Amino acid sequence: MLLIDLLDKYPMEVTLRDGTRCTVRPVSRRDDVKLQKFFLAVPEEERLFIKQPITDQTLFRQWCRQPDFERNLPLLMLHKNKVIGEATLHQRGGGWKRHVGLITVLTHPEFRGRDVSKVLVSELINIARHCGLRKLEAEVNGERKIALHVFAQLGFNVLMRLHDYVLDMKAVPHDYVLLGKNLKVEEEFAGIGG
Ligand SMILES: CC(C)(COP(=O)(O)OP(=O)(O)OC[C@H]1O[C@@H](n2cnc3c(N)ncnc32)[C@H](O)[C@@H]1OP(=O)(O)O)[C@@H](O)C(=O)NCCC(=O)NCCS
Repeated sequence: MLLIDLLDKYPMEVTLRDGTRCTVRPVSRRDDVKLQKFFLAVPEEERLFIKQPITDQTLFRQWCRQPDFERNLPLLMLHKNKVIGEATLHQRGGGWKRHVGLITVLTHPEFRGRDVSKVLVSELINIARHCGLRKLEAEVNGERKIALHVFAQLGFNVLMRLHDYVLDMKAVPHDYVLLGKNLKVEEEFAGIGG
């Protein structure tokens, strides 16, 4: 199925666990300022693994104004006009991992524990499946117990844990955990209902 057709369902209204009503949709041209605000609201220690300099406004302008959804599809959750969650499906577009998507996710600290990440990642799993991807990966700092819990709930398994393998920006080592989930491709998915 074409990605453009899959995105037709957005914007989508959702009600969180506590009754908060929100909207889910892909990033759009005018989201740069609110997206940067969102990233800056996340504590630095949780941002240490983000490679890009998030203080740089041009980065967000680029993300929002020249999106390439076939490569990076950022889904946002908004409460009123504020970004409260972001999850991205990264695709390789070629090579030996062309069938494996990578998912990253981040929830605004004030909106955690209300299902924001579960809703966003579930949407991306559905999109990935219908795009014909066969596997999904997520990379997590081994100390991020909540992230491991969320991905486990969504059917991801630990593929490998490497002790003290990655360094944060302060050069402190952390365990690297690679999580994976097998997907049923679109035809099989349609045939057996899940
Ligand atoms: C991991 C993260 C995305 C979870 O986001 P979230 O929107 O709070 O997650 P959800 O509300 O969908 O689900 C969280 C689960 O953990 C629990 N949880 C959430 N915050 C919690 C907290 N502070 N303490 C204890 N449990 C918590 C929830 O109760 C829920 O579990 P349940 O369904 O069994 O009750 C968020 O903590 C975050 O942004 N972390 C930093 C970035 C990161 O580690 N990303 C993952 C790697 S890409």
